[in-house]
Amino acid sequence: MNTLSIYFEKIFGKETQLCCFAPGRVNLIGEHTDYNGGYVFPCAINMGIYCAAAKRNDNVLRFYSADFQNQGIIEYKSDDFNLKNCWADYPVSVINSLASFGYELPSGADFLFSGDLPNGAGLSSSAALEVVTGTILRELFSIPLTNQEIALIGQFAENRFIGVNCGIMDQFASAMGREGDAILLNANTLSYNYAPIGNAAIVIVNSGVKHSLASSAYNQRRRECEYAASELKIHSLCSVIPDEFESRKMLITDEICRKRAKHAVYENRRVIDAADALERGDLQTFGMLMNSSHTSLRDNYEVSCEELDFLAENAQRMPGVYGARMTGGGFGGCTVNLMKQDAVDNFISDIKSLYENRFGIRAEIYSVSAANGAEICGM
Ligand code: GLA
Repeated sequence: MNTLSIYFEKIFGKETQLCCFAPGRVNLIGEHTDYNGGYVFPCAINMGIYCAAAKRNDNVLRFYSADFQNQGIIEYKSDDFNLKNCWADYPVSVINSLASFGYELPSGADFLFSGDLPNGAGLSSSAALEVVTGTILRELFSIPLTNQEIALIGQFAENRFIGVNCGIMDQFASAMGREGDAILLNANTLSYNYAPIGNAAIVIVNSGVKHSLASSAYNQRRRECEYAASELKIHSLCSVIPDEFESRKMLITDEICRKRAKHAVYENRRVIDAADALERGDLQTFGMLMNSSHTSLRDNYEVSCEELDFLAENAQRMPGVYGARMTGGGFGGCTVNLMKQDAVDNFISDIKSLYENRFGIRAEIYSVSAANGAEICGM
């Protein structure tokens, strides 16, 4: 028996029926392009959330998280799936979403979650929670869903019930990841290709900064993009290429919306160029595109912050580093750094001490690899 099953038995006093895992993700390039109908280039990582569960004979749902032990068991009855403003709102929102798609659960269940993803750090802990819930429900109740559909249900849960108008990238990466590969995803059509990352090391630096207004600022960015697209009379910003954008950009009357649009259009181009570079094994070019992505997120999209700028700019100058940028929605969270394997140890100690000297924060650092998407795991 694995430790999760033992823990489950301790909390719920009965045996686990099933365990699943869903990973977090790191986005290599293509930030804020998904809801603009563009490309993203994330990979699932070998950190994520485990869930053990067992059905019940009644209609009660009980949730326990090893990461929020102080909140104890959180219970919802089938006649009241209203959100309670706590972590369990994510799995409950997935259950509500399944119902919206016509899959009512035939009975209640008990769930235990445990993970190693930092919360709110831009590594998609919410998406992993949604996707692991969707996966375990599919397996427990034999619901006919593909991993891709589970990703869409997770996004629906987040949009409709949690209130963040996120795109599909995070849930897709968590559900569809493949070991050793990044995923080049067209968020407009959902067509995708796996691209081997090869020998480069991926190192994530957690700034430790969280901005409480991140979700409202995110929704605001999305509205600005939609407004810019409507002025250009196009459905989504990433449907234009940079040249077209340059010739028509003055149709966007508001200067801020024009800057947001500029980021989306050029970032989309950078993803395509980065995918080409990776295919050629040209990591120098890939890294330069990551650096430009950071600059644009800082200056045009304005979702970076002093700490992330410091981490990215210093990393970009370090030996063996191909590229560095903030990753995820922004307003705090992490940077992603692509580098030579033999540069990792020095990078970690140098960036840690620089950051601590400047901000007095001990950054957590994760050296990750590209991992498989959601799956059942051994009990
Ligand atoms: C968050 C969202 C994603 C994506 C990124 C920014 O992670 O969940 O859909 O928009 O921000 O690229």
